[in-house]
Amino acid sequence: MGRTILVLNGPNLNLLGEREPAIYGHETLADVEAACRAVAEAEGYAIDFRQTNAEHEMVEWLQAGRKGMAGIVINPAAFSYAAYPVLDAIKLADCPVIEVHISNVHRREEAWRSKSIMTQVCTGMITGLGVQGYELAVRHVIWLRERGK
Ligand code: DQA
Repeated sequence: MGRTILVLNGPNLNLLGEREPAIYGHETLADVEAACRAVAEAEGYAIDFRQTNAEHEMVEWLQAGRKGMAGIVINPAAFSYAAYPVLDAIKLADCPVIEVHISNVHRREEAWRSKSIMTQVCTGMITGLGVQGYELAVRHVIWLRERGK
């Protein structure tokens, strides 16, 4: 087990801060990365933080991270609803995988947003806690690892 936590972000999250701020807030993805890094480094862990708009790239990153990570935190964004190759790649992971959504997907206007296909293959899911959800997911990975889980 390594001491790196892979934090993966799906499509349109590169525009966090600018994208629908009433829903996703004003913080940027760089702010999220800094917050994750601060939490991890304080506990002696490292963060590998990435964002992509391309499904094949997400699959490749999950494949590359399938072994040796302390954990994976993933906001699959709109990949959540139809990207079965991403679901299959999550299943390859030999570590905990925490799904994060910034908004409460169960409370959104569009009912389809609450139907993430990823949840069934993830360890757990955080939704609706804003960008703090990432930080909490990183903390949970560390909590699991420190207890040998
Ligand atoms: C999201 C919620 C998804 O429905 C949406 O497609 C996103 C962001 C969130 O973080 O709240 O892109 O995953």
